[in-house]
Amino acid sequence: MTWSLEPGYRRETLPDPEAVGEDAELVAALRDEIATNGPITFARFMERALYEPGHGYYRQTAPGPGTAGDFLTAPEAHPVYGAAVGRLLDEAWTAMRRPNPFTITEPGAGTGALAAGLLSGLRDGGSGLVAAVRYRPVEVEPARLAALAARLRTAGLDGALVADGPAATPTEIGAVIANEVLDALPFHRVIGRAGGLRELLVTASPDGAFAWHEAEPTTPALAQRLDAERVTLADGQITEVCLGIDSWLAGATRHLARGIVVLVDYAAEPVALHGAAKPGGTLRAFARHAVGGDLFRHVGRQDLTATVDLAAVRAAAASIGLAPIGETTQAELLAASSAPADGTPGLTDPWLRGPGATLESALRLRSALARLLDPRGMGGFRVLVFGRDLPADVRLPLLNRVGRAGVQGDRQPSTA
Ligand SMILES: C[S@@+](CC[C@H](N)C(=O)[O-])C[C@H]1O[C@@H](n2cnc3c(N)ncnc32)[C@H](O)[C@@H]1O
Repeated sequence: MTWSLEPGYRRETLPDPEAVGEDAELVAALRDEIATNGPITFARFMERALYEPGHGYYRQTAPGPGTAGDFLTAPEAHPVYGAAVGRLLDEAWTAMRRPNPFTITEPGAGTGALAAGLLSGLRDGGSGLVAAVRYRPVEVEPARLAALAARLRTAGLDGALVADGPAATPTEIGAVIANEVLDALPFHRVIGRAGGLRELLVTASPDGAFAWHEAEPTTPALAQRLDAERVTLADGQITEVCLGIDSWLAGATRHLARGIVVLVDYAAEPVALHGAAKPGGTLRAFARHAVGGDLFRHVGRQDLTATVDLAAVRAAAASIGLAPIGETTQAELLAASSAPADGTPGLTDPWLRGPGATLESALRLRSALARLLDPRGMGGFRVLVFGRDLPADVRLPLLNRVGRAGVQGDRQPSTA
């Protein structure tokens, strides 16, 4: 089938989502676990479907994000996004009085698209941070890290790359940036009932097909989370709860003694996420740039994701001493960083008027910006910035353009 990716600009043939199949060994292992232990939580199903070594969706050597993969993230859409994030980190580095070294740790670095855009943006923008930065990508799949290093090497951007693991204690100064990682953490699935909250577990029917099984919640933490957010589900209403955010954020920032933490994702306030407008929740699957409704198909070959709960992220940050610095949207960050202070080259100069700029680079930028700025798509993704051990009055002007956006962005298949 042929879809128009960018109307009037480019037409491409995309692979058939049905052709991805499933990981038969992983399906068998999940069935075995259910046969042995009984129905499992969706969080457990998701953990194995995405992260099982050698089988899970994020343990494949072929990357999920990107034009050749299953969905498009902002860093994959165009390096201008990484360059904008770089300007935010440059601002933080300046506010911190230019510490050297300044280690940027990126959990979920994927293909290295964000690293490439960020590092080339710092270089092209003449940032002094270039001389201080150490860039540490972190991934669940070691093969991805090798491919990422090769990509940066080819682009002449590997000078700052470091392969050491984060320190086990808070001794480092720098930044942690995670782009579209929180939405990939395992989610539990719950349903409101007149008698109280229930959980939707995964079972296997006699023919081997996975199916939902309603049961008592496997942990009181699910009801506690919804209670804390003052959410009451209507009878039959389904939503998702990610209980792993706290431990993930604590682990991802354990090494940070002083610096900022930037989390970007499609996210919503509890009232929107768990309200009547989303009676079936937000869990969904992505394969070959198509949104699939069936979470049990293409096991190990499709991404599983849900919209991130902003209140849960803020609470997780507060519980480990991360102070809120500001929030914005991806579109506002791009807009703010494209109007730089005097003397700094414009954010989009490399593609519009730099020595390598061509008509094609300008058109690609224009096409990508239409996506990146769309408030109902990537432009509405939320950017949450926290600080550790920074002065209470630290201000990052790039976050000043907007308070809390009303429109909620969502991951789009690139066919949208
Ligand atoms: C949706 S992809 C985003 C990739 C990249 N950040 C981007 O925006 O293009 C999610 C990434 O997070 C990684 N990931 C998920 N959980 C992780 C964890 N606990 N530690 C490190 N990486 C993780 C996955 O392997 C995957 O590469």
